[in-house]
This record gives sequence, C-alpha cells and structure tokens, in this order.
Amino acid sequence: RPAPLLAPSILSADFARLAEALPVLDDRCVVHVDVMDGRFVPNITLGMPVVAALRKETQRVLDCHLMIVEPSRYATAFVEAGADWVSVHQEADPHLHRTLAAIRDAGAKAGVVLNPATPVETLTDLMGAFDFALLMSVNPGFGGQSFIPRTLDKIRRLDAMRTASGADFLIEVDGGVGPSNARSLIAAGADVLVAGNAVFKAPDPRAAVRALLAEMDA
Ligand code: DX5
Ligand code: ZN
Repeated sequence: RPAPLLAPSILSADFARLAEALPVLDDRCVVHVDVMDGRFVPNITLGMPVVAALRKETQRVLDCHLMIVEPSRYATAFVEAGADWVSVHQEADPHLHRTLAAIRDAGAKAGVVLNPATPVETLTDLMGAFDFALLMSVNPGFGGQSFIPRTLDKIRRLDAMRTASGADFLIEVDGGVGPSNARSLIAAGADVLVAGNAVFKAPDPRAAVRALLAEMDA
C-alpha cells in the first residue's frame, strides 16, 4: 500500500493570499480546492479562474472538489483550467458514468463524492469508472465542522468493496479531519485525508502538515 497523502484544503486559507498557502505543503500533499456554487451547498467560494491562477503557482496536484449542481456542465472546464483531479457529487449528477468518463478523457483523474447520507454501496455498479472516491465526513459547505464518526464504517465497507471487486482507486476523506482521528482513518482504509482548519488555522501550518503526516504513518 503506497504512503497516504494529505490534501490541505485552501478553503481554510486566506483567500487574498492563496499563493502564500502553497509553500506550507510537503511533497506528500495535494492541494484540495473546494468549489461551491451556493446551490448544491449554501456557500459560494471560487471557480475556474482561481484554479488557473493556482496552476501558475504550483506543480502540485490540484484536487478540485466540485460542490455544484449539474457538475457535468463544468467538470472538463476545471481540467482545462489546470485541475489534475476533479470530483463530482453523486447526489448532483444523474449521469455520473458519463461525467467521470469525460473527466478522464480530458486528461484528469475522475472522482466521485458521497455525502454523509449516501451509502458506499451506491458505487457498486461504478467500480472501475472512477480513480478516487471522496467520502464526506461532514455535510459539505463549510470548513471547521465536526467529523461524523459513522464515516469510519463507510471507509471500511468501501475498502472491502475495493478488494472484492479488484478495482483500483483511492479513498479520500473530507471534513473534520485532524491529529485526533487521522490515524484511525488510515487504519480503516483511507489513502488521502483532506484537512482545512487542522492545517491553515493552526498557529504553524507547516508544523501541522508534518504532525498530520506523522500521525498518518503511525
Ligand atoms: C467542506 C469542504 C472541505 C473543508 C474541510 O464542504 O469540502 O474540504 O474544507 O475543512 P475542515 O478540514 O476544516 O473540516
Ligand atoms: Zn472538500
């Protein structure tokens, strides 16, 4: 099993100084970019122009989490803007199989996101069609919320489905992740942990990245 990755979420960084958030990251980090439209979720954040601006500032993987209605309308535009990974919510797209294929065709890794209320078993007939599954461990919309404990069981079940199907994908977990639960999430089968407040609201974000990675390796 490859070393797990950390995905610091720039939602918790200073939006006027986004480029200054990037040097904090380690080689085992991808940059988690939360795109919200005020429709699928109550909050509004950023779109393709900001992704394109980030693309000029870093070589790291840009992991774009689309929390928008009708994600099929914009998914490939995010790839063109420079996203390396693009994920769409299952709850927002009746034609997920097609949207995931379009993301791959555009040259990016395709991810499917499940809200806390959506069972991982809904991915059964999508095995092989996605490169990563993002399990929400909070209700999407805001940083700094509390981790929903039931997510641990969802990770274990999805990990078992992965083994049984032989499909090759990463399991990413998003929301309320910090030093107190990072180790248990990796033990349950997660490969990528998103962390917003735990990194960018820490007094020393660089030290917080190192501490989280150490917990993940423990
Ligand atoms: C929530 C976003 C998360 C958020 C996580 O809707 O998808 O990526 O930034 O923030 P923390 O780690 O603070 O819960
Ligand atoms: Zn996110």
